Amino acid sequence: MKERIEKLLADVEAFKAEKIEEVEQLRIKILGKKGELNELFASFKEVANDQKKEVGQLLNQLKVKTQERIVELSSSFAQKEEKGDNFLDLSLPISDDNLGSRHPLSIVKNEIIDIFSRIGYSISEGPEIEDDWHNFSALNFPKEHPARDMQDTFFIDKEHALRTHTSSVQVRVMENSTPPIRTISPGRVFRNEAISARAHCIFHQVEGLYIDKNVSFADLKQTLLYFAKEMFGEKTEIRLRPSYFPFTEPSAEVDVSCNICSGKGCNVCKHTGFLEILGCGMVDPNVLENCGIDSKVYTGFAFGMGVERIAMLKYQINDLRMFFENDIRFLNQFKSTI
Ligand code: DAH
Repeated sequence: MKERIEKLLADVEAFKAEKIEEVEQLRIKILGKKGELNELFASFKEVANDQKKEVGQLLNQLKVKTQERIVELSSSFAQKEEKGDNFLDLSLPISDDNLGSRHPLSIVKNEIIDIFSRIGYSISEGPEIEDDWHNFSALNFPKEHPARDMQDTFFIDKEHALRTHTSSVQVRVMENSTPPIRTISPGRVFRNEAISARAHCIFHQVEGLYIDKNVSFADLKQTLLYFAKEMFGEKTEIRLRPSYFPFTEPSAEVDVSCNICSGKGCNVCKHTGFLEILGCGMVDPNVLENCGIDSKVYTGFAFGMGVERIAMLKYQINDLRMFFENDIRFLNQFKSTI
């Protein structure tokens, strides 16, 4: 008897139905008036006394299991009927064969964030519509100063513009915190430029800022070398060229050794062996004072890089417009875990 109940239990558990009628047949077979269960209960009195307890429990188990299975199958048929062909079985495991991929600019941006967060940089953000103070004046671009023409600006009104760089965020961070400050600010920027293979009116930057006591140009160089090696490979070298930005003094532009020809010279690096990746410098004392930081106590460095430019170098893409066309054949080539 025990074996018979156990066999029935296994049958019920494995029972599958193509049609609702089959569920009803199961019910009749086991729970019906002349069904297995009643028959088994009828012969229960013949079970030896010392086995009654165990067999009784098994019988109960068969009853409960069968009832549960019937409810389960019936409700799944009811759902199918209700939803028609669109029936969604939410208990199915997810399929991973049609996942999208991240945009290459997001991949590179996330990588930059990752590299700097490993050395203690936080992330900060600011608005894309910016006032004159944060985009220009606080950064030491006086009104009517020709340096403002370095960046062709989309003005909204006299006091507001679409930000031309993410340097505006460093002003906001300095105004709202006290040193030590170590932050990077990724974001979209806008310039009134003709669209070409090398320029776009919308692009992305990551700004970096480090303010503390005794921060030196050597710290800046070492930080950027670390970044270049993490981003482009251990063998990468950097080169600093003197430059001018209103908000840093001294200022420099930074090149990395060409990762295509390893510095030997090729078409991409125009046979110089180097490619420009960012601007940087020591934060001008005027900027610190504009933002409420005592320039006699604190020094700091800042840098700003274009995400498109880094992505073009990393993936050897020669037309910036590709990033904005959203051609699925282009986007599908980028897979990442970051
Ligand atoms: N804001 C500059 C630009 O958009 C880039 C830059 C240069 C940012 C030097 C900096 C810096 O923080 O120190 O061209």
